[in-house]
Amino acid sequence: MDLGLKDAVVIVQGGSRGMGRAAAECFAADGANVGIIGRTQADLDEAVEALKAAGAADAAGFRADIGVQADVDAAFAAIGARWDHINTLVNAAGGEVVGDFETLTEERWLESVNLSAMGMVRCIRAALPLIRKAEWRRIVNFSAHSIKRQTPSLIAYTASKAMAASISKNLSLTLAPENILVNTILPGSFASPALRKWATAKGIDADDLHAIMRGIDEHFGHPAHLPRAGDPQEMGPVVAFVGSRCNSYMTGAFINVDGGSDFC
Ligand SMILES: NC(=O)c1ccc[n+]([C@@H]2O[C@H](COP(=O)([O-])OP(=O)(O)OC[C@H]3O[C@@H](n4cnc5c(N)ncnc54)[C@H](OP(=O)(O)O)[C@@H]3O)[C@@H](O)[C@H]2O)c1
Repeated sequence: MDLGLKDAVVIVQGGSRGMGRAAAECFAADGANVGIIGRTQADLDEAVEALKAAGAADAAGFRADIGVQADVDAAFAAIGARWDHINTLVNAAGGEVVGDFETLTEERWLESVNLSAMGMVRCIRAALPLIRKAEWRRIVNFSAHSIKRQTPSLIAYTASKAMAASISKNLSLTLAPENILVNTILPGSFASPALRKWATAKGIDADDLHAIMRGIDEHFGHPAHLPRAGDPQEMGPVVAFVGSRCNSYMTGAFINVDGGSDFC
């Protein structure tokens, strides 16, 4: 199937590792020009080489902390100078701030909101002038399946991801008149580097997706019908479709990619 991505400009913040990286590689393989944003230069460099090998000869990395407005402004200024428009923005960066309600400090709460919700807001605001210059326009935002399955120690994370989901839904309405399609991905448990690190710390074999899922169920109470964690590579094609020209009528959708659950 032709996703209509040839020569499109796709920016993936959080595209150097995990699910964002897998999505960036799919966009590259389908002929898009791909830019990725992250904080770690070595990871960006390595990922850019992989994107070039996958088919995006013009791939580029932009080092920025999405928690810092000046970084985001500088990154999107550089993106605009390189490509002058953006067809698709994927907001994939995130990270868990762990702690119970009564032990989390205000600083940690704000850190979580700043990364998982405001980072996305900053990137969308900075990208919109460039998105408006494109012939077709898509925004794909990562939330988390855990916004529907509460875990006491993830309260700040899930609240921030719920905020991101709400903003994403609102924007799908706000931006629909401009034919900017905005959708939200709700991942379940994916064996990205972050989750694999957690598994190893718990004595779980990080290469065993079934063992990781058992660990997730035990520690967080999040089982999946398919009794295993997802491989980040399984997320790439989903994001590539949702963020492609081929997706022309889906907006405001919450897309569960979680191995199945009893929540809708
Ligand atoms: N893995 C899961 O099971 C799971 C489940 C539900 C939801 N999610 C969500 O899905 C998304 C992808 O998760 P993942 O596990 O695949 O991610 P990951 O492997 O931890 O990778 C995160 C990516 O975001 C970048 N990033 C993190 N903080 C950043 C910052 N402040 N500024 C710029 N870039 C930043 C990282 O690069 P640098 O560190 O170099 O900046 C990296 O490229 C996240 O939003 C996550 O919360 C994940």
